[in-house]
Amino acid sequence: MAKISIFLTVLSLIPLLCTSFSPENPTDRRILVLLDDLALKSSHSIFFNSLQSRGFVLDFKLASDPKINLQRYGQYLYDALILFSPSIKQFGGSLDVAAVLDFVDSGHDLIVAADTSASDLIREIATECGVDFDEDSAAIVIDHTSYAVSESDGDHTLIASDYFIQSDAPVLFKGIGHTLNAANSLVLEVLSASPSAYSSNPESKLSSPPSLTGSAISLVSVVQGRNNARVLISGSLDLFSNRFFQSEVQKARSTTKYDKSGNEQFVTELSKWVFHERGHLKAVDVRHHKVGETAEPAMYRITDDIEYLVEIYEWSGSSWVPYVSDDVQIQFYMMSPYVLKNLSTDNKGLYSTSFKVPDVYGVFQFKIEYQRLGYTSLSLSKQIPVRPFRHNEYERFIPTAFPYYGASFSTVYGGILRFHDCVPVQQVDVGKLTLLRELEDTSTFPEKF
Ligand SMILES: *[C@@H]1O[C@H](CO)[C@@H](O)[C@H](O)[C@H]1NC(C)=O
Repeated sequence: MAKISIFLTVLSLIPLLCTSFSPENPTDRRILVLLDDLALKSSHSIFFNSLQSRGFVLDFKLASDPKINLQRYGQYLYDALILFSPSIKQFGGSLDVAAVLDFVDSGHDLIVAADTSASDLIREIATECGVDFDEDSAAIVIDHTSYAVSESDGDHTLIASDYFIQSDAPVLFKGIGHTLNAANSLVLEVLSASPSAYSSNPESKLSSPPSLTGSAISLVSVVQGRNNARVLISGSLDLFSNRFFQSEVQKARSTTKYDKSGNEQFVTELSKWVFHERGHLKAVDVRHHKVGETAEPAMYRITDDIEYLVEIYEWSGSSWVPYVSDDVQIQFYMMSPYVLKNLSTDNKGLYSTSFKVPDVYGVFQFKIEYQRLGYTSLSLSKQIPVRPFRHNEYERFIPTAFPYYGASFSTVYGGILRFHDCVPVQQVDVGKLTLLRELEDTSTFPEKF
């Protein structure tokens, strides 16, 4: 019997052990890379090698390959998609715009790189993600102040940008600009043009004012969906190329010459973010109980003092590390938050706070809605009923009611006095006021009577 129960205990522990030893790994593993031209495999090999060295399995295919399939038997075959196929007019196989969007909608990640040859298909995918490439298909971003000095570039379309980012050297960009869809608050610009840039066809004379100018032009943007899917959109495919990675860079009117552009650093950091090697949070071990206790009750009573705890970790690319921040808030919520408090952290991942349950009963929720730029959002909620006092749990004496207690006690006291007064009155003949008054002096009573 004892052996069996030990065996059962061990069995029941197995799932626990499994989950604690192999934490869910949020990093994408399998990436489908669609190319316009297989030569990109070598011209952009530094970027691809960096992904492979970080543990990703890349599946390269021509974008027109008739055997492209994102799914098989309703299951996605990939965790992420890289579209390095700006000019593709129609994907091969079963892939189309709707399939790409479904892939993202189901929480997968996407990198889209365009250039001057961007097809309607690629533009449409970008638009659906919240950015609009310049409609003029011949337009290219030109910057007469923030261009990179080079022999081949006379038209100032090779841009050296360090707007919006912190990198050691400027980032080289050659391609088309886009604007962010103002209605989409989930899009974030990560590399922008200088205020003097504009988007136009360098071949033609500038007859009408360009539609996109200055800092309104975004060069590279990212999107994080509400489902935590991440998308990177770049108007330049060269941004990821070996040539740009290894190029020296000198900004116009600057004497500083960098041996190496900021591209590799920029692209590496950005791709780490897109593929969830950065900024991915998880919350575990949510618990709550009365202050001083440890067991989680099935319900609370109004005005109970309670404690709420949760552990939050961030994925570092290889392991979960404590996430440290002071802006994680807990709501004790029923239609609206009755309690809103920042959680304090022990810097080891544990967040906690304590508060008094409000003097209102009903079904409440412990709620955390954590949305921070650059991080996956956390959305936790746990329902808990709050009951009123039971009839025998009310306080016997409430300090504010003391005048009333005083009043009722004085009434009782007065009644007792009256009652005592009555006793002798009943014993003597009623109506003889003289007698009654003399009653006070009882010692004389019998003789006088
Ligand atoms: C509390 O959290 C809010 C929102 O998350 C944040 O803006 C604020 O700075 C935090 N307050 C403190 C004192 O940390």
